[in-house]
Amino acid sequence: MKRFLTTIALCGMLFAACERDYSISYEVDHTPTMGMSFWNAFQLNINEDLVKDQALAVKELGYADAGYKFINIDDGFQRPRDAEGNFMYDDKLFPNGMRAVADYIHSLGLKAGIYTDAGDNTCGSENVYAYGLGTGLVGHEAADCKLFFDEWDYDFIKIDFCGGQHAGLNEREQYTKIAEAIRACNKKDIIFNICRWRFPGTWAADLATSWRTTYDIRPWFSRMKYIIDENLWLQAYTRGGHYNDCDMLEIGSKWPGSDAHLSHDEELTHMAYWCITSSPLIMGCDMRKVPETSREVMLNKDLIAMNQDRLGLGAPVVQREGEVYVVAKDMERIFGPKRAVVVMNLTDEEKTIDVSVEALGFKGKIALYDCFTHQDRPDLACETSFPLTLAPHASAAFFATGKRAEKTVYQAEESYMKQFSTIEGVQSPAYLQSESASMGAYAAGLGSDSDNWLQWDNVFSRKGGEYVATIRFACAQRCGFTVSVNGEEITWFENLSTGDDASGWDSVNFKVNLKKGLNNIRLLNATGAMPSIDCLTIRPAGK
Ligand code: GLA
Repeated sequence: MKRFLTTIALCGMLFAACERDYSISYEVDHTPTMGMSFWNAFQLNINEDLVKDQALAVKELGYADAGYKFINIDDGFQRPRDAEGNFMYDDKLFPNGMRAVADYIHSLGLKAGIYTDAGDNTCGSENVYAYGLGTGLVGHEAADCKLFFDEWDYDFIKIDFCGGQHAGLNEREQYTKIAEAIRACNKKDIIFNICRWRFPGTWAADLATSWRTTYDIRPWFSRMKYIIDENLWLQAYTRGGHYNDCDMLEIGSKWPGSDAHLSHDEELTHMAYWCITSSPLIMGCDMRKVPETSREVMLNKDLIAMNQDRLGLGAPVVQREGEVYVVAKDMERIFGPKRAVVVMNLTDEEKTIDVSVEALGFKGKIALYDCFTHQDRPDLACETSFPLTLAPHASAAFFATGKRAEKTVYQAEESYMKQFSTIEGVQSPAYLQSESASMGAYAAGLGSDSDNWLQWDNVFSRKGGEYVATIRFACAQRCGFTVSVNGEEITWFENLSTGDDASGWDSVNFKVNLKKGLNNIRLLNATGAMPSIDCLTIRPAGK
């Protein structure tokens, strides 16, 4: 009895701590990779002295202490294979050999990264660098992996696909073969990055630590905006230690041979979005020539904490006004009291947005901590919404804390679709934009295959119990779907039609029992067409 009373008293005193009992904690094996790569600043002009000097700069200038540990050699170190097909490096550029470079990097307490292609030629070789022709992994998977990891002791590998395209390879089959070769090495815990410049498919998470989702970044805003736009709807695919890779950071760098670079506001937006979405943070600049303001952006300890959070989550859009986006994710505990929030103005004009406390996932008063100025913002603490005015291309980044509200609307564009891919020509469901859809986007192209389903994995119930669920859908004619909750089919709908696949939205309701904590809700039509899906709404039954 005494213990019971103590618990009640403690709950009264530490309400927030008791709230946390509902939340879920776990840790991923790998937080997003942090380091630097030579490609953006140096392209093919690399050599042993440069690699060592940049590694030393990462160590001496405070980047390593902030978490940037990987020194990733990119394209430009190879020579054509010998007559027996052995992989060769350029011994004029790297006179002491690739192992000596990795040893030096390790002697600084850092990690060494290397680069190759899944097919025959590297990307650089397709343009100007004939030495990279035929140096890719196809036909040499086991031998090259043994060389890179067991003989040369590299810790990270980025595997491009220019040669894969050239050789007409299937992405999934070839990257699976490579993953098997990596696993067969004696060296373990190798970080594997797929570089296919589009979201490759959900299979990538079974093989790799991270995968590029877009074409190459450049230090101008339109290219950065393209990358953000492409990643807005990919957030369900980053999880459990496997990450969407938004490409290297273009902070503190100019495009080789030109003066093009990002403004300070743009650099902050860049860093904040990469951090909140748990993208790898791979610096792409000459580490010896970083302006102080850019250095501060990359060393921002609060943004790095946002990126390295042990939940490793993506950050879906929670509120949107045109191209002003609010994205958010849980920090430390699923459904815990702390969330990361980034508000971005991607337009070319100054914009003001009222950021909604409810959209952020809270009920009642929230406290905000500004991750750019490293200060609490009591001026913004509020119960309903707070206004933010942002210059063109500028952002704000916060840690928000408060009492969590159960989420009621789950957008289709934050769902996980098993057969999703953005590779050109691959049959895939898609996230599409439409003004008539809630938050301006919906999912289409589902059904007609037992694997072509959509699922929300993060349907959270604080206590468990009965809910009323609503699915908002559109369908030209005669479509349907089954609903499964935590693996069990609970209901189905057939002969639905609203006259159009992208408008004329209608909805169906059903009751659902949710267990306490996380639930998944899956929509599937294995044999026929599924409607376009806009969103799922859940409310406790009887309310
Ligand atoms: C591709 C990749 C780049 C870089 C080059 C090297 O373009 O996307 O990041 O690795 O190849 O040639």
